[in-house]
Amino acid sequence: MTEIARTPVTIVGLGSMGTALAEAYLNAGHPTTVWNRTPEKARALTERGATARTDIAAAVAASPLVIACLSNFDASALSLAPAAEALAGRTLVTLNSGTASGARELAAWADEHGIRYLGGAIKNVPSAVGKPDTLLYFGGERAVFDEYAAVLRVLGGEVVHLGAEPDLAALYEAAVGATLLPALLGFFEGAALLDARGLKAATMVPYAVKWFQMIESLLPVLAGEIDDRDYTRLGSSVNVFHEAIDSDREFAEAGIDIAWHEPIHELLRRAVAEGYGAQSITALIEVMRKQSTD
Ligand SMILES: NC(=O)c1ccc[n+]([C@@H]2O[C@H](COP(=O)([O-])OP(=O)(O)OC[C@H]3O[C@@H](n4cnc5c(N)ncnc54)[C@H](OP(=O)(O)O)[C@@H]3O)[C@@H](O)[C@H]2O)c1
Repeated sequence: MTEIARTPVTIVGLGSMGTALAEAYLNAGHPTTVWNRTPEKARALTERGATARTDIAAAVAASPLVIACLSNFDASALSLAPAAEALAGRTLVTLNSGTASGARELAAWADEHGIRYLGGAIKNVPSAVGKPDTLLYFGGERAVFDEYAAVLRVLGGEVVHLGAEPDLAALYEAAVGATLLPALLGFFEGAALLDARGLKAATMVPYAVKWFQMIESLLPVLAGEIDDRDYTRLGSSVNVFHEAIDSDREFAEAGIDIAWHEPIHELLRRAVAEGYGAQSITALIEVMRKQSTD
């Protein structure tokens, strides 16, 4: 067993994700201590060799590295508060979803109590924990990340340090996650359109995949335009999307509720009215920026 494999780890929170984290450490041979508000959830893990504690302070005192994976930052703060003294000098990593402000508050609390803190996120589902292409990213002091990067790599092959600010993982979660629901809604309404003609959603999967691959290949180009604030370079203009508003009638005629398109159409109309029509579609970000400062 290597030095890394002997690092004891405490997992706080045994929901679907916390349980998968604990299983990964048990599989990798780490002494693993677990704590959960509802203690019964620890039973299967103790049968596999984990040590369960019902006292949170005793749980964190068992390991130099404590990984909390509760529903959100409020739940983490609430659960860890009685263990502040025991956590002093140890490293706390959070892997829950939540806001950047939630991460900053927890980081301030950790700092106040002499706790080394990394705010992290795992970008996959519980069944993917421990897989080579599973991505985790972290914000916080580089030296703390470097000390535990190998231990954290047990949870996924891609372990990234985003920077020194402890709220960066939560910030990137919000930024990257923003695409999820609009992309899924688009897929669902496309499936509804096919269904209205008696066609299966599965028939569009190969073409939808090609479409997403095209979007994937465009992202670096679009990001370059946004970063340079230069919207003069690409072929797809705001006008092209503005003129396509009418083609949405296809959905309305098939009886599909596409009310969620209206704010998007409004954004396009404003962009044209503000003189961005001939510029790249990325110019929409300027209209969004104005909305946020209006
Ligand atoms: N599951 C996923 O696919 C996935 C993927 C990536 C990220 N995540 C993130 O990982 C975090 C955990 O997800 P999960 O799927 O494991 O959730 P889950 O199955 O719903 O488990 C939630 C956990 O939080 C605990 N908890 C909630 N409120 C609490 C409170 N007030 N005090 C103490 N403990 C509390 C629960 O304890 P009890 O057992 O006592 O209720 C349980 O351990 C979430 O932030 C989620 O967004 C999940």
